[in-house]
Amino acid sequence: MLAIDRLCVFYGRIQALHDVSLEVRSGEIVSIVGANGAGKSTLLWTIMGVNRPRGGVITFEGRPLRSIPDEAASRGIALVPERRRLFANLTVKENLVMGAYLRKRGPEVAEDTERVFRLFPVLKERLSQYAGTLSGGEQQMLAIGRALMSRPKLLLFDEPSLGLAPALTEEVFRTIVEIKGRGTTILLAEQNAYKALEMADRAYVLETGRVTMTGPGPELLENPVVQKAYLGVKT
Ligand SMILES: Nc1ncnc2c1ncn2[C@@H]1O[C@H](COP(=O)(O)OP(=O)(O)OP(=O)(O)O)[C@@H](O)[C@H]1O
Ligand SMILES: [Mg+2]
Repeated sequence: MLAIDRLCVFYGRIQALHDVSLEVRSGEIVSIVGANGAGKSTLLWTIMGVNRPRGGVITFEGRPLRSIPDEAASRGIALVPERRRLFANLTVKENLVMGAYLRKRGPEVAEDTERVFRLFPVLKERLSQYAGTLSGGEQQMLAIGRALMSRPKLLLFDEPSLGLAPALTEEVFRTIVEIKGRGTTILLAEQNAYKALEMADRAYVLETGRVTMTGPGPELLENPVVQKAYLGVKT
């Protein structure tokens, strides 16, 4: 579904991604784990067309994905960004409608809003509340709901557990599995390596802009190098 081949991304003269190659197949959850500054967000924003790569090719459903605004979104890719990035001064409802802005208005949008409410009933109770006044967990649900409003084929998550209490983190990861169950393919960047690897069909370890390891999620979870570096296991 998504194929990334030897991607190189720079910020000025600093290279943030070095020949990164990865693949996401239809129906998978693929996780990218890595420490602060490893390049996870850079990779996701490059897929969304916000960062322009200096080298490499991104292919989506067999055709090159150009780094121009709306290309990714209009082809069915959505991002739940790090720290949610909601429209704080818009209400819950307005945020959801913004998520559907590339699509036709009308009954479809109402249907999708209902689907988001079935997934997150708490949002329905808070329809007219400003997004900026929601709790951290509610904001994360709204950010996921907003992304789902575009009916993405591929949904990218950037550290969805950041700043959430353990119980809410569990709920967010459960939701991600549920979204996969409904037919959306998932690419997930996380510092919470344990959860991210446990639930991943396949995963990639990103270290200072380079892919250093890849394999089935549960297999990487058992890897001593991964355990030492990302799971705090003492050897
Ligand atoms: N706009 C920018 N300008 C210059 N350098 C940047 C910019 N954004 C990111 N970087 C640098 O690129 C590298 C990768 O950053 P990135 O945000 O992709 O990492 P990350 O894996 O998402 O980290 P975190 O887990 O902290 O979110 C870092 O060294 C960072 O300082
Ligand atoms: Mg990041």
